[in-house]
Order: sequence, then C-alpha cells, then structure tokens
Amino acid sequence: MTARKIILDCDPGHDDAIAIMLAARHPSINLLGITIVAGNQTLDKTLVNGLHVCQALNIDTPVYSGMPKPIMRQQIIADNIHGETGLDGPVFAPLTRKAQSQHAINFIIDTLMASDGDITLVPTGPLTNIAVAMRMQPQIIPKIREIVLMGGAYGTGNFTPSAEFNIFADPEAARVVFTSGAPLVMMGLDLTHQTVCTPNIISRMDNAGGPAGKLFSAIMNFTLKTQYANYGLEGGPVHDATCVAYLINPGAFNVQDMYVEIDVNSGPCYGRTVCDVLGVLGKPANTKVGITLDVPWFWDLVEECVRMYH
Ligand code: BDR
Ligand code: CA
Repeated sequence: MTARKIILDCDPGHDDAIAIMLAARHPSINLLGITIVAGNQTLDKTLVNGLHVCQALNIDTPVYSGMPKPIMRQQIIADNIHGETGLDGPVFAPLTRKAQSQHAINFIIDTLMASDGDITLVPTGPLTNIAVAMRMQPQIIPKIREIVLMGGAYGTGNFTPSAEFNIFADPEAARVVFTSGAPLVMMGLDLTHQTVCTPNIISRMDNAGGPAGKLFSAIMNFTLKTQYANYGLEGGPVHDATCVAYLINPGAFNVQDMYVEIDVNSGPCYGRTVCDVLGVLGKPANTKVGITLDVPWFWDLVEECVRMYH
C-alpha cells in the first residue's frame, strides 16, 4: 500500500502537536509539508510551536508560515485552553529550526497543481489558509483528493453554544471550503470528545517512553487542567489527531454523509456547522461527518506512534 500524501495545516496547539506526532512517522502517511495558520494563538506563536515540536521530535518535514488573520472577522484566540504561548506545558530547547521562506499559500497551491490529484489536505485549525488558497487559485480544487478536517459539531459548540473554535475563528473561510465541492470529512466535537485523554492514558504514553512519550505527557498534562477548568472534562480531547487516525484506518470510524452549511450570519449561530443529520432539506450531502471511532484502537495507534520515536 502506498502511503497517503498529506499536507497538515495546523495552529499548534496541544492536540495539533499530537497530530504532527502521528502524521510524521506513521508508515501509512507521507507528510509533504506542515503549513501553519493563526488560531489557538497568534501566527508568530503557532509557527514557533510547530517548529519546536518538529525540532524536539527530529521531524524534518518542511514547515511553512501562512495567514496571520481570519478573512473578515476580528481575530480570536484560544488561550483559555492552550495558554499564553499556545503550547504551554512542555519546556523546549532553544529553537534553531527555521520555517521555509515560501509562503504556506504558495506551497499549498504549487504542490497541488504539480500533483496527480493524490494529495489530501488535513486542516486542524481555522480554515483561513485553505480558503485563501482556493480563492487565489481555484484550479487547485479538483486536484484535492479529500479534505479531512477537525472542526464543527452537529451537537453543541465549545466556543459558543452553537460553534466550535476552528470554525468560529474564521466562519467565512469555512464557508468557502464547505461550498468548494472538494470531498470533505469533518471530525467535529461529537466525535473528538470520545478521545478525552485521562491521567491513566497520559501515564501509558509516558511509560511508552522516548522523546514522544515525554512530550505527549507534558502536552496532555497541561490540557488536562484547562479542559477541566473550562468544561469539567476529565482530560484533554486530542481532537486534531483523529483526522490523521482516520486516514490511517477509516474502517475504525463511523461517518455519516450529510449536507453541512456554515452559518455566517451575525447572531448566536455565527460559525455553526449546520448539519442536516436527518436529511430534511433533501440537499445532496457534501460532507462525511464523524460519528464514532474505535477508541481502544485509537489509543493503541497513539502508543504505536509514540514508540516510533525511540
Ligand atoms: C479545536 O480548537 C483548537 O483549540 C484545537 O487545537 C482543535 O483544533 C477544538 O475545538
Ligand atoms: Ca488545532
């Protein structure tokens, strides 16, 4: 089986870091590049965090800096979850690793245009980079094999009662992506909250050892506290890593085809992924929405990837 070619577009971010950890070493994934967007923190911070993770784990995948602000709305950040740096918790060595000089948008466009239509985009932050690339060069859209993204919910949001953070941070960008016609898979909160990383899972990964075990436990011990303080959860969900896991083994997931529309009207539902779960609109589905995953399999996969860094 040939490894699945992906571009990981992220805003590291604790769970983004775990997504990088899985994508960079698993033999089923060919990670072509890591593109960074503003989201959990400002772009200067999410870029530094992405570089720190790569340096700490000896990941030589090129890292590209992308959009510093959402398309239209005023910028928001998630420092209540990810802290002042956007990746509070781990202590990193001084940073020597550098980003590429090419802009993330140009990297995404050039790489897709030169491809045979076999590249999957994996956005785990606000969809600003992907939307801007689509607007700048619409010919990339038929070149995208699939977009497997973390964002949204058919149930309750986490930044407003209606909206999940990644979509709420740039609803207009999300609307561009969800109306693009590219094949979409959406891992929303309904699914990602099944991956709450409790203290015993943290110990398990810590005991698996090596630099990734150490980093995993420093990262997830921090979100343990913020997720409890904000939502009363008994651990941090590793939301973003579910997208990579899906690409490694889609059979471990139940997904449902749905028509999904992004609400960009100002008001209490701004940034909501309106999911037609019952098909009442009779519109053709545009998204496979994650419902459940095989949770024991998922943690086995995470441990397997942690051990790959020994
Ligand atoms: C999403 O928002 C961010 O805080 C996380 O990194 C994840 O991508 C969860 O709502
Ligand atoms: Ca993220």
